[in-house]
Amino acid sequence: MKVGVPKEIKAHEYRVGLTPGAVREYVAAGHRVMIETNAGVGIGAADDDYRNVGGTILTSAAEVFASSEMIVKVKEPQPSEWCQLRENQILFTYLHLAPDLDQAKGLLKSGCTAIAYETVTDAHGGLPLLAPMSEVAGRLAMEAAGSALKRSAGGRGLLIGGVPGVQPARIVVIGGGVVGTHAARMAVGLGAEVTIIDRSIPRLRELDELFEGRVRTRFSTTESVEEEVFAADVVIGAVLVPGASAPKLVRRTMLSSMRKGAVLVDVAIDQGGCFETSHPTTHANPTYEVEGIIHYCVANMPGAVPLTSSQALNNATLPFGLALANKGFSAVLENPHLRAGLNVHRGRLTYEAVAESLGLPFSPIEQAAA
Ligand SMILES: NC(=O)c1ccc[n+]([C@@H]2O[C@H](COP(=O)([O-])OP(=O)(O)OC[C@H]3O[C@@H](n4cnc5c(N)ncnc54)[C@H](O)[C@@H]3O)[C@@H](O)[C@H]2O)c1
Repeated sequence: MKVGVPKEIKAHEYRVGLTPGAVREYVAAGHRVMIETNAGVGIGAADDDYRNVGGTILTSAAEVFASSEMIVKVKEPQPSEWCQLRENQILFTYLHLAPDLDQAKGLLKSGCTAIAYETVTDAHGGLPLLAPMSEVAGRLAMEAAGSALKRSAGGRGLLIGGVPGVQPARIVVIGGGVVGTHAARMAVGLGAEVTIIDRSIPRLRELDELFEGRVRTRFSTTESVEEEVFAADVVIGAVLVPGASAPKLVRRTMLSSMRKGAVLVDVAIDQGGCFETSHPTTHANPTYEVEGIIHYCVANMPGAVPLTSSQALNNATLPFGLALANKGFSAVLENPHLRAGLNVHRGRLTYEAVAESLGLPFSPIEQAAA
C-alpha cells in the first residue's frame, strides 16, 4: 500500500505520524511510505533519516495526500487537510470527533474511511492508542508539579523528595488509572509521600499490590478527598469517567483550606478538568494562581516531549497501521479492535456515541460498508 505522512500543522504540534523506525517496518512489509519534507523535524528526524530506511520524501502535503492510499497522522485533520481526503482513502489518526461538528462534516464530505486512535480497543477492554499518551502525561505531571512547587514559581518552596532529616512533599493523586499510576510511580521514585484516591475498589487493590505498601490508597468520597487535599502539597487530577466530562472533585471553596503555595495539576483538563477553578493553559504559559494555589492545566501535555511521545505512540499504532496497510479496509472488518476505531466510512458516521453527541445519523458498519 502507498502510505503517506504529512507534516502536522496544528499549532505547537511537533509529533509525527510515523517515526523513521516505524517507516522501516512498513517498508520491510512491502509498503511504500511517502513523507512530507521536514515532517520529522520536531522530533529531530531529518529527511535523510527517512530516506535511509526506504521512505520517499515529497515536497508538499498536497503531493502526500494525492499519492497515498492511507494517511497516518497524529492530530485530527485541520480544514485544509479535510478537503484533500477522498473516497477509499484511509485516515489513521486521533480524531476526537464528538465535540467537533465541523471536522465531522469535513470527513463525511470527503468520503474517506477514518479510524480514530482514541476508540481503537484491546482484548482487555482498554484503549491501547490512548494509553501511551496517558503514560507520558502522568510522568510529566510530577515534573510539572516539581517546577511549580519552587518558590520562584509561586509554590511552597518545597523539594518533592525532601532530603535526609526533612519531610518530603505530600502528593495526592485523584484517579488511579493510567495517568495516576504513572504520576504515582514518579512521585514514589522521587521519595515523596503518596496517596492515591480512586472510586474503584478493585483498582485500589491492584495499586496496593503494585506499589507494595509504598503508597496509601483511599476510596473516593467527599470526605476523603477533602482530608487529603487540605493536607497536600501537590494534587494530581487524573480521573476519567468515559464519555462524560470530568467530575469537579475540588471546589473553589476548598482552596482557602489548602496549604498556601500548594500545586494542583489538572491532567483531566482535556475532559473539562476535575478542579472547579481549572482552565486550559499552554506550554508557553502553563500555570496561574487562584487564592494562593498554583494551577497547572496544560491540555496537550505530551506535546512537550514530542520525541518520547511520537515513539510511544508509534509503538502502539504500528501493529494496527501495518494490519491496515496489509489488508486495507478488510482489516477493519476482520479485527474487532480496529472495527471499534472506525468513526467514518464513505460519508457515514459509524461510531454511535459520536453520532449521538453530534446529533447526526449513525450507520452500523455493515450498512456503511454495503
Ligand atoms: N492533559 C493531557 O495532556 C492529557 C494526556 C493524557 C490523558 N489525559 C486525561 O487524563 C485523564 C485520566 O486518563 P487515564 O488514561 O488515566 O484514564 P483511566 O481510565 O485509566 O483512569 C481514570 C481513573 O479515574 C477513576 N475515577 C473516576 N471517577 C473518579 C472519582 N470520582 N474519584 C476518584 N477516581 C475516579 C477511575 O476509577 C479510573 O481508575 C483523562 O481525562 C484523560 O483524557 C490528559
